[in-house]
Amino acid sequence: MQRNFMNSYTEIDTPALLNEHYEIIQDRWDQALTACQLDVVILHAGAARFYFEDDQGPRFQPNPHLLQWIPPEYAVANSCLLLSPGQKPCLLFYQPEDYWHATPAAPEHLSTYLDIKVFPTHGALQTYCADHAHKCATDPKGIAFIGEVTDQTQLQSNWQANPPQLIHRAHFARAKKTEYELAAMRNASQMGALGHNAAAQCFTDGGSEFDVHMAYLTASAQNENELPYGNIVAQNENAAFLHYQLQKRECAAVQHSLLIDAGGAFRGYASDITRTYLKTDANTTNETDSVFLELLERMQTHQDKLIAAIAPEQNYVALQQLMHQQLAHILVDTNILRCSATEAFESHLTEAFCPHGLGHLLGLQVHDVGGQQISATGDLQPPPENYPSLRFTRPITQDMVLTVEPGVYFIPALLSNYQAEDRRFNWALIESLKCYGGIRIEDNVRVLTTGVENLTRDAFAAIQSEGHK
Ligand code: GLY
Ligand code: MN
Ligand code: MN
Repeated sequence: MQRNFMNSYTEIDTPALLNEHYEIIQDRWDQALTACQLDVVILHAGAARFYFEDDQGPRFQPNPHLLQWIPPEYAVANSCLLLSPGQKPCLLFYQPEDYWHATPAAPEHLSTYLDIKVFPTHGALQTYCADHAHKCATDPKGIAFIGEVTDQTQLQSNWQANPPQLIHRAHFARAKKTEYELAAMRNASQMGALGHNAAAQCFTDGGSEFDVHMAYLTASAQNENELPYGNIVAQNENAAFLHYQLQKRECAAVQHSLLIDAGGAFRGYASDITRTYLKTDANTTNETDSVFLELLERMQTHQDKLIAAIAPEQNYVALQQLMHQQLAHILVDTNILRCSATEAFESHLTEAFCPHGLGHLLGLQVHDVGGQQISATGDLQPPPENYPSLRFTRPITQDMVLTVEPGVYFIPALLSNYQAEDRRFNWALIESLKCYGGIRIEDNVRVLTTGVENLTRDAFAAIQSEGHK
């Protein structure tokens, strides 16, 4: 199946987008190197690894710093990119003569932006890399290496391996997306939306967690290795596990709910989307179904309000608090908690129903780097003590892409911290809701000067307007 099968996919290989992207990232690295008094940095793809006592291993996951420069299919193990202020970046592309595995052709289409040198042996590549780096540097201490350091990494003793000051700067800058990156993320969102619609249909038709997973893969045109993260496909009480992974092949006797958290990856950039569904069947719909349906509707409005509150310079920690304040009202209004919303919030009762953060930065990594970093030099803003899972604490700024993913769950391990005698909890109702597991609704938004571009909802709207189910 072709990936570019939708009219509404954004064309991303245009000179305008590529020129701007490479100009921006080159400028960022030049400035970071200069600030760190470094002459050159080697961004190393990494090396393939094997399982214990085996000649096979997990899929190769290239260094994300390199992925900002070349799409994943070209970020071949052992390859590297050399960056030096004022010089055209140089890609050393490893292309062994191999008859076990196919080796991709070098990304010659990027030769406007990168000098590309192809090496059939790792040894020749390493020798060239060291020579070239030393030519760019006045002193070997001016050479930085960013990448995983293993036994095979030929680091020279006076090179700087993963210097924190350089990495902090790179991580901090990455939060602001270029137009090319945004285009890639729009496409990743459409892939996700196609998968989600097929998943919902599969669930309606009685599919198991495994069936839903497979329907998602087919419709989003991704294989397991291409997913930005392992699909979370949880039916019934399994939705109470935030990152549920088992994908059961058999269905429960009664299917109550589906929570699916699954994304798309396009040119290395991710979408991260969650939807939750109630299994509606007029013959079996009961009173608890009605409560869960009301919860679902309230959670959608809850998310809408949180998204509406996003703006540059807004404090995400304040939004995290707002999430719990709004959740307090929902839990009280649905009679799950029998106290005031103020008491539910101030006594931290809502935290038993939603132990994760409101969201995180998104990009080359699903939980993208730098979310708790408040300066380019690496100052950190840790999350508040009562929200330890909050991954994003820095001020919101324009062209960040964030997830907004409020949830409400019935998690036995958290609820059991409260006494059965605590009358603030409607234990009977909570017990009857455990079979639905929980709800999460997750969209990805780009911050504008005012408000947001909702990549996720735009993607669902685009595929609907094109007649895709
Ligand atoms: N898919 C993981 C998350 O939503 O953070
Ligand atoms: Mn997320
Ligand atoms: Mn997610």
